[in-house]
Amino acid sequence: MKQKSPSLRHAARFVLGAVSMAALLAAAPARAQEPVQPIAVPKVTEPAKVELGKKLWFDPRLSRSGFISCNSCHNLSMGGSDNLKTSIGDKWQKGPINSPTVLNSSLNVAQFWDGRAKDLKEQAGGPIANPGEMAFSHDLAVDMLRSIPQYVHEFKKVFGHDKLTIDEVTSAIAAFEETLVTPNARFDKWLKGDKKAITAQELRGYELFKGSGCVACHNGPNLGGTSFQKMGLVEAYKTDNPAEGRSAVTGNDAERFNFKVPTLRNVELTYPYFHDGAADTLAQAVDTMGRIQLGKKFTDQENADIVAFLKTLTGDQPQIAMPILPPSSDKTKRPQPFD
Ligand code: HEC
Ligand code: HEC
Repeated sequence: MKQKSPSLRHAARFVLGAVSMAALLAAAPARAQEPVQPIAVPKVTEPAKVELGKKLWFDPRLSRSGFISCNSCHNLSMGGSDNLKTSIGDKWQKGPINSPTVLNSSLNVAQFWDGRAKDLKEQAGGPIANPGEMAFSHDLAVDMLRSIPQYVHEFKKVFGHDKLTIDEVTSAIAAFEETLVTPNARFDKWLKGDKKAITAQELRGYELFKGSGCVACHNGPNLGGTSFQKMGLVEAYKTDNPAEGRSAVTGNDAERFNFKVPTLRNVELTYPYFHDGAADTLAQAVDTMGRIQLGKKFTDQENADIVAFLKTLTGDQPQIAMPILPPSSDKTKRPQPFD
């Protein structure tokens, strides 16, 4: 006899999970047991480091072309994403995967769709040296920064020495990213007891989101980011995108097509959806999730209710004063956008 397929096994485990969670929710006093928690605002303990990280975040000189910064693909005016199916990198290269939002990414268990970076600091070194993204190298990035007296001064002020290595660069960028959280979403106000913060339709959407089992994967303050889960649990997901997901990191074939569950915070702003950017709208994404993760076909009304709920998750966007970057010096290597 054929072995049970991995997706069936997953489904069985998931159903058990959903049942016990439903039982738990029924028994629990209202809000204390909600599977979603409000976002807490982190305390900034090192403001000078955050300020330096912000400059680096916006500095296109960390790329070979002198044109691409972190903000190019994680635009903080657009929910920390680029709103493209897949990103555009050095020399207009087509990126392999959809750019996830950086908002609230400090709350995720790991970084990237497949979780290959353990935290923000480890992640931040990636794009600078990625030939398909900023196409620079860590050495060139450090040389660039060392050639600019104002940067040298600022790194020394923040780190207390003037080594200026890639380690300080990624550490400052991570400190800035940790401030990119979005509190005070209307749904958070509701969670905290303001009954009028969401409408009757939005509340119906939340009840459906909870009752149908979406919260088995999209839970916690980030409504996601807590685990890796199979894309296409009940029904296979069809895509031309070659990304394998978690198995590419662990080498474990059972984790093939498992992706980090994305956050649903600010999801209204971060279209298109899924790792391949294939869903243009929230209605499409919700329909797909219902069918392939839960084996459920939502009616138009149910779909609209869930979408209405998801839009209550848009929080206060980080208020950012554009940093003025220190000018290059005569020694700074010039960018090479075209060769
Ligand atoms: C050319 C576009 C591009 C640039 C430039 C870029 N990123 Fe990204 N970023 C992406 C894409 C695409 C992913 C997803 C890659 C994956 O998961 O394999 C990503 C993933 C991330 C993540 C993980 C988020 C999560 O929830 O998993 C963080 C954090 C991040 N980038 C920060 C940065 C920082 C910091 C910089 C600048 C040093 C930067 N990015 C530059 C496109 C870009
Ligand atoms: C078994 C776990 C699981 C369940 C159940 C689940 N999701 Fe997901 N969800 C995921 C994963 C994993 C992804 C990312 C998959 C990918 O892009 O390949 C995702 C992606 C999404 C996205 C796109 C987010 C983005 O930024 O790309 C939305 C929206 C979403 N889910 C909503 C829902 C809703 C609504 C439900 C309930 C109807 C639901 N999900 C049920 C695991 C789950």
